[in-house]
Amino acid sequence: MLNLAVFVSGKGSNFHSILRAISAGEINAEVKLLVSDKKYCGAFDIAEQNGIDKISVSEISKSGFITYKELFDLLHELQINLIVLAGFLQKIPVEIVSAYSYKIINIHPALLPAFGGKGMYGINVHKAVFESTAKVSGATVHFVDNDYDKGRIIAQQAVDVSYAEDPEDIAAEVLQVEHKLLPFVIKKFSENKIVFENGRVKVLL
Ligand code: GRF
Repeated sequence: MLNLAVFVSGKGSNFHSILRAISAGEINAEVKLLVSDKKYCGAFDIAEQNGIDKISVSEISKSGFITYKELFDLLHELQINLIVLAGFLQKIPVEIVSAYSYKIINIHPALLPAFGGKGMYGINVHKAVFESTAKVSGATVHFVDNDYDKGRIIAQQAVDVSYAEDPEDIAAEVLQVEHKLLPFVIKKFSENKIVFENGRVKVLL
């Protein structure tokens, strides 16, 4: 059984897609903890409705938040074996990255390495894609290391955005892809079907 911690900063639609896949019996996993850098975000309502513990984390100690050191201990206590970043906007501290090497994944709303890196999140990504006049975009799930969006790519799914009238159209198309791709990768993790071959990540059928 995969013990998941999901890190969010926003609405939580990706978090919700994971919960739906688990309750449909598609993934042998349990979300043990929801973590946000915000005091409150939309994902918290989804956690409440599903009886999932949630906490807010901050670099500096302030009321209503735990510190990353406390979070580190909590992740260990909960025996978390996969951390999923689903719209989390902060950098993961190096201590957590090294303790969870190849056990932290992130979903990015574009086809990395294009349209990634610091500041490329949310609608900024889709604005850049729209301005570039690219005809396809998509989503990427990758391992998290100490650089934004640079970790080894696990899976990608492209989507035709040639008819998009604005960045919001692209966002809507890509979000639908995200909601399938992230649960797919987590399922493969739960089945130990994510392997490494010659420095590349392979997802076994
Ligand atoms: C998604 O577009 C995801 O790719 C990006 O942040 C957004 C989170 O959306 N990292 P939600 O909170 O899951 O609805």
